[in-house]
Amino acid sequence: MSTPITFPGLIDCHVHFREPGLEHKEDMESGAAAALAGGVTTVCEMPNTNPSTTSIIALKDKVERSKGVKNVDIRFFFGITEHTHVQELRTLWTDDQYESVRLKCCGVKVFFDHSTGDQGASLEVIEEAFKACAELGIPLVAHCEDSGINAEAERVILEKVEGDMSDVSLHSLMRPCASEASTITQAITFARKHGTQFHIAHLSTAQGIESVRKAKKEGLPITCEVAPHHLLLSTNDYATLGTLGKMNPPLRTPENAKALWDGIADSTVDCIGTDHAPHLLEEKQADEALSAPSGVPGVETSLPLLLTVAAGGWPHPSSKRPDINFSYEDIIKLCFKNPNHIFNLGKSKKDQFQIDSDAEWTIHGKDLHSKCGWTPYEGWKVKGKLIK
Ligand code: DOR
Ligand code: ZN
Repeated sequence: MSTPITFPGLIDCHVHFREPGLEHKEDMESGAAAALAGGVTTVCEMPNTNPSTTSIIALKDKVERSKGVKNVDIRFFFGITEHTHVQELRTLWTDDQYESVRLKCCGVKVFFDHSTGDQGASLEVIEEAFKACAELGIPLVAHCEDSGINAEAERVILEKVEGDMSDVSLHSLMRPCASEASTITQAITFARKHGTQFHIAHLSTAQGIESVRKAKKEGLPITCEVAPHHLLLSTNDYATLGTLGKMNPPLRTPENAKALWDGIADSTVDCIGTDHAPHLLEEKQADEALSAPSGVPGVETSLPLLLTVAAGGWPHPSSKRPDINFSYEDIIKLCFKNPNHIFNLGKSKKDQFQIDSDAEWTIHGKDLHSKCGWTPYEGWKVKGKLIK
């Protein structure tokens, strides 16, 4: 074995642990077990649970539940879908009695279009959230897809295929790159106007990267994350993955994936967040492919996949490694230093684990800890393993 590499306990700034309300897919305990097995000791959890985390009571309930989880620090995003939720946020942030709950809240999450949990909000509500977050000093994260563009693209495509919902690859055309690009532009306008610390979730397009690159040059406090599935998978993978490759934003072309790697290389990309979004296999295997729920698990597999790339390899069994630079130091920057800073998590580098960077193994869904029991990386060979 080569000399072990030391890593800080990693941070995944984008997970869906499904508790409360959807515990058949995941709960805090199973999600945390998956995180820990993937070297992740801090997660930022999304508000599209049931009930949604759009009230102080709902947030308090999640914080209480998370006290039973050992070894993984779960922080929570506060969701905003209506005007009243902005008022609730102001109370949470200014009333001293909520200090302990507030300390577990890592930011606000808004959706420009619906995804799992239907948390899409109107532009009016979203702009109010940008304003409130700027005033209160809270990082705001957005899922950037345009509901109008998506709806129109879906209408045109379904008309063309005469309502046939069996081809899941159409999902990428129904939620086109232009939808993300236009929403990112809109969101950056809000951030500039109000002075909001703004973070773009799971950025997936070359155009999106270019907008963030420009915004950073302008000096705006804008950051973004990319997801492992958008770095390693593409629209070419629908043929093998079927509905297991359905997520929002959808799979993009290899050219878009390359732009994300370039964004990592020049620090346009700040974080890798997995968007761990487990659904059961039977839910994914819907009768109508395009009606399958969107989302893939990822919190446990991100580190070995990234270690493989950092070792100079490429874990995808049938695509070639693009021309990219990626190092172990990049993993620490993208999965610890930057998210720690952006979301004010106050984590210490002293919480550490070690990696055997030579260990080769194969990913199998059945060996993973998520309740969903599958992975889009089934059978992939990886290099780099946590030393237990
Ligand atoms: O693919 C996705 N799944 N995208 C989202 O925005 C939500 C997530 C989920 O919660 O399943
Ligand atoms: Zn998500």
